[in-house]
Amino acid sequence: MAKKFGIFFTLFCILSTSCLGDWNILSQHKTNSGLKISLKNYCESWRMNVELHNIRDYVVVPQECVAYIGKYMTSTQYKVDSERTINECILYLSTNCILENDGKDAWIFDIDDTLLSSVPYYKKNGFGGNKLNVTSLEDWMSQGKGTAVEHSLKLFNHLKGLGVKIFLVSSRREHLRSATVDNLVKVDFYGWNSLILRDQEDECKNAQTFKAEIRSKLISQGYRIVGIIGDQWSSIEGLPSAKRSFKLPNPMYYVA
Ligand SMILES: *[C@@H]1O[C@H](CO)[C@@H](O)[C@H](O)[C@H]1NC(C)=O
Repeated sequence: MAKKFGIFFTLFCILSTSCLGDWNILSQHKTNSGLKISLKNYCESWRMNVELHNIRDYVVVPQECVAYIGKYMTSTQYKVDSERTINECILYLSTNCILENDGKDAWIFDIDDTLLSSVPYYKKNGFGGNKLNVTSLEDWMSQGKGTAVEHSLKLFNHLKGLGVKIFLVSSRREHLRSATVDNLVKVDFYGWNSLILRDQEDECKNAQTFKAEIRSKLISQGYRIVGIIGDQWSSIEGLPSAKRSFKLPNPMYYVA
Protein backbone atom coordinates (compact mmCIF):
# COMPACT_ATOMS: atom_id res chain seq x y z
CA MET A 1 0.00 0.00 0.00
CA ALA A 2 2.78 2.38 1.00
CA LYS A 3 4.59 1.48 -2.21
CA LYS A 4 1.46 2.07 -4.24
CA PHE A 5 1.02 5.44 -2.63
CA GLY A 6 4.68 6.21 -3.35
CA ILE A 7 4.20 5.51 -7.02
CA PHE A 8 1.03 7.55 -7.07
CA PHE A 9 2.84 10.41 -5.37
CA THR A 10 5.74 10.28 -7.84
CA LEU A 11 3.32 10.31 -10.72
CA PHE A 12 1.50 13.25 -9.16
CA CYS A 13 4.79 15.14 -8.85
CA ILE A 14 5.71 14.49 -12.48
CA LEU A 15 2.27 15.62 -13.60
CA SER A 16 2.27 18.76 -11.48
CA THR A 17 5.78 19.68 -12.67
CA SER A 18 4.64 19.37 -16.24
CA CYS A 19 1.68 21.61 -15.38
CA LEU A 20 4.13 24.30 -14.31
CA GLY A 21 6.05 23.54 -17.49
CA ASP A 22 2.93 24.40 -19.46
CA TRP A 23 3.76 28.01 -18.86
CA ASN A 24 6.84 27.43 -20.98
CA ILE A 25 5.26 25.15 -23.56
CA LEU A 26 2.27 27.34 -24.27
CA SER A 27 3.93 30.56 -23.06
CA GLN A 28 0.46 31.82 -22.59
CA HIS A 29 -1.98 32.46 -19.81
CA LYS A 30 -4.89 34.79 -19.19
CA THR A 31 -5.27 37.56 -16.63
CA ASN A 32 -8.61 38.06 -14.84
CA SER A 33 -9.73 40.38 -17.60
CA GLY A 34 -8.90 37.81 -20.25
CA LEU A 35 -5.68 39.39 -21.50
CA LYS A 36 -3.36 36.74 -22.89
CA ILE A 37 0.03 36.91 -21.23
CA SER A 38 3.25 34.91 -21.02
CA LEU A 39 4.81 33.60 -17.83
CA LYS A 40 7.39 36.38 -18.17
CA ASN A 41 4.59 38.99 -18.28
CA TYR A 42 3.07 37.42 -15.19
CA CYS A 43 6.32 37.32 -13.20
CA GLU A 44 7.50 40.74 -14.31
CA SER A 45 4.24 42.21 -13.11
CA TRP A 46 4.61 40.32 -9.82
CA ARG A 47 8.13 41.74 -9.38
CA MET A 48 7.08 45.28 -10.32
CA ASN A 49 4.24 45.23 -7.80
CA VAL A 50 6.59 43.94 -5.10
CA GLU A 51 8.87 46.90 -5.75
CA LEU A 52 5.91 49.29 -5.75
CA HIS A 53 4.96 47.84 -2.36
CA ASN A 54 1.54 46.74 -3.57
CA ILE A 55 2.39 43.11 -2.87
CA ARG A 56 3.44 42.68 0.76
CA ASP A 57 4.18 40.06 3.37
CA TYR A 58 4.95 37.22 0.98
CA VAL A 59 6.74 34.29 2.60
CA VAL A 60 8.17 32.82 -0.59
CA VAL A 61 8.45 33.88 -4.21
CA PRO A 62 5.58 32.22 -6.14
CA GLN A 63 6.86 28.85 -7.35
CA GLU A 64 6.20 29.60 -11.03
CA CYS A 65 8.31 32.79 -10.78
CA VAL A 66 11.36 31.42 -8.95
CA ALA A 67 13.29 30.82 -12.18
CA TYR A 68 12.38 34.31 -13.42
CA ILE A 69 13.49 35.96 -10.14
CA GLY A 70 16.74 33.96 -10.17
CA LYS A 71 17.40 35.12 -13.68
CA TYR A 72 16.62 38.74 -12.80
CA MET A 73 18.87 38.77 -9.70
CA THR A 74 21.83 37.54 -11.77
CA SER A 75 21.08 39.68 -14.81
CA THR A 76 22.50 42.86 -16.28
CA GLN A 77 19.06 44.39 -15.72
CA TYR A 78 19.43 44.03 -11.93
CA LYS A 79 22.84 45.71 -12.14
CA VAL A 80 21.47 48.53 -14.27
CA ASP A 81 18.50 49.01 -11.94
CA SER A 82 20.78 49.15 -8.86
CA GLU A 83 23.25 51.49 -10.55
CA ARG A 84 20.39 53.81 -11.42
CA THR A 85 19.28 53.91 -7.77
CA ILE A 86 22.82 54.81 -6.69
CA ASN A 87 23.15 57.47 -9.38
CA GLU A 88 19.87 59.04 -8.27
CA CYS A 89 21.27 59.25 -4.71
CA ILE A 90 24.36 61.02 -5.99
CA LEU A 91 22.25 63.35 -8.14
CA TYR A 92 20.12 64.22 -5.10
CA LEU A 93 23.26 64.97 -3.07
CA SER A 94 24.49 67.40 -5.70
CA THR A 95 21.19 69.14 -6.41
CA ASN A 96 18.43 69.01 -3.80
CA CYS A 97 20.30 68.20 -0.66
CA ILE A 98 21.67 70.95 1.55
CA LEU A 99 24.52 69.81 3.75
CA GLU A 100 25.40 71.91 6.76
CA ASN A 101 28.86 70.40 7.21
CA ASP A 102 28.72 70.67 10.99
CA GLY A 103 29.31 66.95 11.55
CA LYS A 104 25.58 66.30 11.92
CA ASP A 105 24.68 65.45 8.33
CA ALA A 106 23.87 61.73 8.33
CA TRP A 107 23.07 58.96 5.86
CA ILE A 108 21.71 55.52 6.73
CA PHE A 109 22.51 52.33 4.87
CA ASP A 110 20.85 48.98 5.24
CA ILE A 111 23.38 46.12 4.93
CA ASP A 112 21.97 42.98 3.31
CA ASP A 113 21.36 43.45 -0.41
CA THR A 114 22.23 47.12 -0.01
CA LEU A 115 25.96 46.90 0.78
CA LEU A 116 26.49 43.13 0.97
CA SER A 117 24.85 40.92 -1.59
CA SER A 118 23.17 37.75 -0.37
CA VAL A 119 22.59 36.57 -3.93
CA PRO A 120 25.36 33.94 -3.49
CA TYR A 121 23.34 32.49 -0.58
CA TYR A 122 19.98 32.60 -2.34
CA LYS A 123 21.49 31.11 -5.48
CA LYS A 124 22.08 27.94 -3.45
CA ASN A 125 18.77 28.21 -1.59
CA GLY A 126 16.11 28.48 -4.22
CA PHE A 127 16.14 32.22 -4.98
CA GLY A 128 13.43 33.02 -2.48
CA GLY A 129 11.34 30.01 -3.47
CA ASN A 130 12.16 28.24 -0.18
CA LYS A 131 10.91 29.37 3.18
CA LEU A 132 13.63 31.33 5.00
CA ASN A 133 15.84 29.18 7.23
CA VAL A 134 17.34 31.63 9.72
CA THR A 135 19.91 29.09 10.96
CA SER A 136 21.34 28.44 7.54
CA LEU A 137 21.23 32.13 6.55
CA GLU A 138 23.06 33.14 9.75
CA ASP A 139 25.58 30.33 9.20
CA TRP A 140 26.28 31.82 5.80
CA MET A 141 26.48 35.37 7.18
CA SER A 142 28.93 34.25 9.86
CA GLN A 143 31.29 33.07 7.12
CA GLY A 144 31.56 36.66 5.88
CA LYS A 145 31.36 35.72 2.21
CA GLY A 146 28.93 38.39 1.07
CA THR A 147 30.04 40.16 -2.08
CA ALA A 148 29.62 43.92 -2.45
CA VAL A 149 26.42 45.10 -4.07
CA GLU A 150 27.83 46.69 -7.19
CA HIS A 151 27.84 50.51 -7.25
CA SER A 152 26.89 50.92 -3.56
CA LEU A 153 30.56 51.45 -2.76
CA LYS A 154 30.52 54.45 -5.09
CA LEU A 155 27.79 56.11 -2.99
CA PHE A 156 29.44 55.06 0.27
CA ASN A 157 32.76 56.64 -0.72
CA HIS A 158 31.04 59.70 -2.19
CA LEU A 159 29.35 60.34 1.17
CA LYS A 160 32.65 59.86 3.01
CA GLY A 161 34.21 62.45 0.69
CA LEU A 162 31.39 64.90 1.47
CA GLY A 163 31.95 64.42 5.18
CA VAL A 164 28.48 62.95 5.75
CA LYS A 165 28.31 60.63 8.77
CA ILE A 166 27.45 57.10 7.75
CA PHE A 167 25.24 54.86 9.89
CA LEU A 168 24.73 51.19 9.08
CA VAL A 169 21.44 49.92 10.47
CA SER A 170 20.68 46.25 10.03
CA SER A 171 18.31 43.60 11.37
CA ARG A 172 21.29 41.27 11.70
CA ARG A 173 21.72 40.19 15.27
CA GLU A 174 24.57 41.29 17.56
CA HIS A 175 26.28 37.89 17.51
CA LEU A 176 27.06 38.53 13.83
CA ARG A 177 28.87 41.81 14.55
CA SER A 178 32.47 40.76 14.03
CA ALA A 179 31.66 38.63 10.97
CA THR A 180 29.72 41.57 9.55
CA VAL A 181 32.55 44.04 10.15
CA ASP A 182 35.10 41.63 8.62
CA ASN A 183 32.89 41.08 5.59
CA LEU A 184 32.26 44.79 5.04
CA VAL A 185 35.95 45.68 5.30
CA LYS A 186 36.93 42.79 3.05
CA VAL A 187 34.85 44.29 0.24
CA ASP A 188 36.11 47.86 0.95
CA PHE A 189 33.35 49.34 3.08
CA TYR A 190 35.04 51.12 5.99
CA GLY A 191 34.98 54.48 7.72
CA TRP A 192 31.35 54.40 8.90
CA ASN A 193 30.34 56.26 12.02
CA SER A 194 28.36 53.50 13.67
CA LEU A 195 27.10 49.98 12.99
CA ILE A 196 23.78 49.36 14.68
CA LEU A 197 22.53 45.78 14.94
CA ARG A 198 19.63 44.20 16.78
CA ASP A 199 20.34 43.27 20.36
CA GLN A 200 18.18 41.04 22.52
CA GLU A 201 15.68 43.73 23.50
CA ASP A 202 15.06 44.52 19.83
CA GLU A 203 14.38 40.93 18.84
CA CYS A 204 10.65 41.04 19.36
CA LYS A 205 10.25 44.25 17.35
CA ASN A 206 9.65 44.05 13.64
CA ALA A 207 12.32 45.54 11.38
CA GLN A 208 10.34 48.67 10.60
CA THR A 209 9.78 49.57 14.27
CA PHE A 210 13.41 48.81 15.17
CA LYS A 211 14.75 50.96 12.35
CA ALA A 212 12.35 53.87 12.96
CA GLU A 213 13.43 53.91 16.62
CA ILE A 214 17.08 54.13 15.54
CA ARG A 215 16.28 57.13 13.32
CA SER A 216 14.44 58.73 16.21
CA LYS A 217 17.51 58.26 18.45
CA LEU A 218 19.86 59.71 15.85
CA ILE A 219 17.63 62.75 15.41
CA SER A 220 17.51 63.28 19.18
CA GLN A 221 21.33 63.26 19.09
CA GLY A 222 21.15 66.19 16.68
CA TYR A 223 21.74 64.34 13.40
CA ARG A 224 19.90 65.38 10.25
CA ILE A 225 19.18 62.23 8.25
CA VAL A 226 19.59 63.58 4.73
CA GLY A 227 19.13 60.21 3.09
CA ILE A 228 18.52 56.55 3.60
CA ILE A 229 18.92 53.60 1.28
CA GLY A 230 17.69 50.04 1.67
CA ASP A 231 16.37 47.13 -0.34
CA GLN A 232 13.34 46.60 1.95
CA TRP A 233 10.43 49.00 2.52
CA SER A 234 10.71 48.26 6.24
CA SER A 235 14.18 49.85 6.21
CA ILE A 236 12.89 53.19 4.95
CA GLU A 237 9.21 53.47 5.90
CA GLY A 238 7.77 54.75 9.17
CA LEU A 239 8.34 57.87 11.22
CA PRO A 240 10.56 59.73 11.64
CA SER A 241 11.66 59.48 8.01
CA ALA A 242 14.82 60.60 6.30
CA LYS A 243 14.72 63.71 4.06
CA ARG A 244 14.78 61.32 1.12
CA SER A 245 14.52 57.55 0.86
CA PHE A 246 15.91 55.34 -1.85
CA LYS A 247 14.84 51.76 -2.50
CA LEU A 248 17.11 49.26 -4.21
CA PRO A 249 15.46 46.38 -6.04
CA ASN A 250 15.09 43.05 -4.22
CA PRO A 251 12.22 40.72 -5.03
CA MET A 252 13.82 37.63 -3.37
CA TYR A 253 12.32 38.10 0.09
CA TYR A 254 10.12 40.40 2.16
CA VAL A 255 11.04 41.69 5.61
CA ALA A 256 8.17 43.36 7.49
C1 LIG B 1 17.90 24.91 8.41
O1 LIG B 1 19.28 24.94 8.21
C2 LIG B 1 20.02 24.15 9.11
C3 LIG B 1 21.52 24.45 8.89
O2 LIG B 1 21.85 24.41 7.53
C4 LIG B 1 19.66 22.69 8.91
O3 LIG B 1 20.39 21.87 9.80
C5 LIG B 1 18.18 22.52 9.13
O4 LIG B 1 17.80 21.20 8.84
C6 LIG B 1 17.37 23.49 8.26
N1 LIG B 1 15.97 23.43 8.64
C7 LIG B 1 14.98 23.26 7.77
C8 LIG B 1 13.60 23.29 8.33
O5 LIG B 1 15.19 23.10 6.57
